[in-house]
Amino acid sequence: APSIIQENFLSLKDYSTDEIMDLLNLAIELKKPENKYLPLLQGKVLGMIFEKSSTRTRVSFEAGMLQLGGNAMFLSSQDTQLGRGETIADTGRVLSGYLDGLMIRTFHQSSVQELADFSSIPVINGLTDDYHPCQVMADLMTILEHFGTLKGKKMAYIGDGNNVANSLMIGAAKVGMDISIASPIAYAPKPEMIALAKQIAQYTGSTIEITDNPEQAVSGSDAIYTDVWASMGQEQETIERFQHFQGFQVNENLVKHAKTDYIFMHCLPAHREEEVTTAILEGPHSVIFQQSENRLHAQKAILVALMADK
Ligand code: CP
Ligand code: NVA
Repeated sequence: APSIIQENFLSLKDYSTDEIMDLLNLAIELKKPENKYLPLLQGKVLGMIFEKSSTRTRVSFEAGMLQLGGNAMFLSSQDTQLGRGETIADTGRVLSGYLDGLMIRTFHQSSVQELADFSSIPVINGLTDDYHPCQVMADLMTILEHFGTLKGKKMAYIGDGNNVANSLMIGAAKVGMDISIASPIAYAPKPEMIALAKQIAQYTGSTIEITDNPEQAVSGSDAIYTDVWASMGQEQETIERFQHFQGFQVNENLVKHAKTDYIFMHCLPAHREEEVTTAILEGPHSVIFQQSENRLHAQKAILVALMADK
């Protein structure tokens, strides 16, 4: 079992390098076919609150809980009293009386923090406007499986500097990976996020670079990552964003600047011929379905670390 002292999984910034590596190694153990159905969470129930859509997060958490001998409950904010104005603080205290853990996907990171503050059971961040830490655990696991190491590898992230980029930046800093983020200037990560990542990077020796030049970011990279140009909740900005992100597509011309054995990554869902061409997404360097499968294994490790009897 990993030696995790955390009660919740809200952001990678709260986890030490050793805790992250312990979780990744546990995920790799749990991925072995002989360990698929270990009953480490026998009888435990995870509640999953969703205020935004999901395919991967919902199904991988639910399947993961079932494989571990527990159960999971999908709680749409529309069908619960949350949708009629019951507070997160009350919801957290009520659900703590029924459940063994909570996962929440919502808009504000402060809502996830509030749920954790008022719940007496572990709370897991399943995506906010600021962070997507479960995704990045699966991403780090994928890079580790592919290259056998994380330290010293270079990630290039091309696109919107929001949730996935923020978590990648913090995750990279924690494990000693270099990361270069190329975004249109108006869509760069927030200064406080960059400052946080740079502060962490001081201790691990990783480099954090922010640029508006995709070729510079991709130069010498081991992994190229992109995400949609309009995230959930930004649907009304789709056309405007499409215009601002021209020149930030991952395509054959851009990937020429990466190392010859680079991998292409995407958290999915993808928009073909927008942030990435079909040729790259479906091409020989793409590891997108290894990434999506690893959501299951990485989250099983998180669930075990937070919810198994100590
Ligand atoms: N990558 C990801 O979180 O996918 P879903 O929105 O389908 O959960
Ligand atoms: N940035 C995307 C990630 C989806 C998994 C969004 O927030 O919609």
